[in-house]
Amino acid sequence: MNHNLAEMEAQVLREINEASTDDELQRVRIKYLGRKGEISALLKQIGNLPPEERPEFGAAVNALRAKVTQRIAERKAELETQALEESLRRDTIDVSLPGELFEIGGLHPLTKSLREITSILSSMGFTVYESREAETDEMNFVKLNIPQGHPARDMQETFYLSDTTLLRTHTSPGQIRGMLALEGKLPVRFIVPGRVYRRDQTDASHHPVFFQVEGLAIDVDITFKHLRGVISTLMSRFFGQDVTVRLRPSYFPFTEPSCEVDISCVFCKGQGCSVCSNSGFLEVAGAGMVHPQVLINGGYDPEQVSGFAFGFGLDRLAMLKYGIDDIRLLYGNDKRFLSQFRGL
Ligand code: PHE
Repeated sequence: MNHNLAEMEAQVLREINEASTDDELQRVRIKYLGRKGEISALLKQIGNLPPEERPEFGAAVNALRAKVTQRIAERKAELETQALEESLRRDTIDVSLPGELFEIGGLHPLTKSLREITSILSSMGFTVYESREAETDEMNFVKLNIPQGHPARDMQETFYLSDTTLLRTHTSPGQIRGMLALEGKLPVRFIVPGRVYRRDQTDASHHPVFFQVEGLAIDVDITFKHLRGVISTLMSRFFGQDVTVRLRPSYFPFTEPSCEVDISCVFCKGQGCSVCSNSGFLEVAGAGMVHPQVLINGGYDPEQVSGFAFGFGLDRLAMLKYGIDDIRLLYGNDKRFLSQFRGL
């Protein structure tokens, strides 16, 4: 082979090997194989040679060109592999790092409490009657023995929507609506859970919106003992066996006799503390035997049947169960508060 060609080959191959990036390699290719490249120039010279030299020189230059072309392709592949290996080394993913936490929501303490209470009472045969929040004055008061001007209206500061409609101040009108829906059928055994509204001042234990769970049971020979049994069972299943229930005489226009339901303080176990004002007891509900006139208003005959009713403050129950000391927390939608109940 022509000495110059051998030299050139050694030179080109060196340059190819030294190219450490694709750009550098391209520059080498253009330098030798480009339109004005050195090997291209040699090819053009073939025509100028004496005819007898042409075949040998032509073959040698073509062989050189093929060799360089192939070597450039190989080098290109080498560089690609190198780059890939390097990026794999550099961009490794540490699979042992903790992933991004996916926040899972939870149930609101009121929802949790209501579900639990509903489940306990439904195990005793109570169904759920969803009444309405916008009520008539008639249902909210009059049908429950609280006519216009009755002093009991003063206990329930009311949001009126018009002269005759209001936001229910308690779930008790659900007693009347539920009875009317059953059209005299027995047994009557349902609860009415839901929001109620009062214009009370707002503080740690008062909020203009809160929840009650009403209960109503009517059948032949229902007695006060049934009321006590249901309430005691509900409280001990909701708060635990060591909670005791005390029924304290009271007055409601729609029950007779009536009582307040107290439970032994869940914080001091009845010893007396600041939460129970040293009384050892906490008030959680109003209850009583359904007043004969209320039975009549619901389409039932007080000569034939009797019943009991109760109305629990759900917020109170949830606050005692979860140790929440301000009712406003239940309505503030503060994630810092709510997230504490996740998974409970
Ligand atoms: N509705 C009464 C209240 O809101 C509670 C109650 C319900 C009392 C059922 C007796 C029977 O204070």
